[in-house]
Amino acid sequence: MRDSERTRVYFERAAFSFDSLYKEEDRFLYYVNRVFRRALYDRVRLTVDEMTELSDFTVLDVGCGSGRNSVIFLGAGARHVVGIDFAESMLGLAKQYSAAKGVASKCDFVLGDAVTYPFAQKFDITVALGVFDYIREPAALLRRMASLARHKVIAAFPTYTLIRGTQRKVRYWVKGCPVYFHSPKRLRAVCREAGLEDYRLVPCGGAGYLLVAPVGDRLLRGAEDLLRSRPSTLPPPKAAQ
Ligand SMILES: C[S@@+](CC[C@H](N)C(=O)[O-])C[C@H]1O[C@@H](n2cnc3c(N)ncnc32)[C@H](O)[C@@H]1O
Repeated sequence: MRDSERTRVYFERAAFSFDSLYKEEDRFLYYVNRVFRRALYDRVRLTVDEMTELSDFTVLDVGCGSGRNSVIFLGAGARHVVGIDFAESMLGLAKQYSAAKGVASKCDFVLGDAVTYPFAQKFDITVALGVFDYIREPAALLRRMASLARHKVIAAFPTYTLIRGTQRKVRYWVKGCPVYFHSPKRLRAVCREAGLEDYRLVPCGGAGYLLVAPVGDRLLRGAEDLLRSRPSTLPPPKAAQ
């Protein structure tokens, strides 16, 4: 079975338990997760920080899972979020959650593989959190994300640490799901392969990096207002002869 199929099968089964990592109802478990899975929360916080310079933007949430982050991106100012995931049970949870939060009309959740899905539009930001963990050769998806983004690509990559990395490898191996780690050196090679030249690797929760790559023109928050309010320095147009 291919890696992507093993990942899909795993998350199809594990959707509910994955989503419970985010549940705030059980305060005790929530705080345990916040301490022991700090990277999970840090990568979301860092991603939202990267959105503050934009206004009225759209997001493609690659591997959106149960849609928790998609809803957070709306709260951070996104006008519309499209979440894509190849595990149908994850999408079911995402639809339920966005409806419960009253934002269902501002998001669409689509079933498919983000590498090949025929998107009809581009997005201001493309984001993938907790997705490259399961992809051995990340360049193809990264290149796709860059081709679909107007302003920025944001993607989380886990790095290997002896205790956490080994534990995770064993845990996922038992469950039949692949898991990969990417060193900064390897990430730089992946970025080259994906055609990304201008990027930052932001350390994330001691467990990996958030890759932030500006692409195309950037719509800075307030920039349009500024342009409107400043008197033009161009000479007035000549009257037609
Ligand atoms: C660990 S979950 C992360 C969910 C969410 N991004 C989050 O941070 O809470 C990873 C998700 O990525 C999905 N996924 C992995 N590779 C994918 C691909 N190529 N296309 C679509 N979904 C993918 C899996 O099905 C799974 O639901």
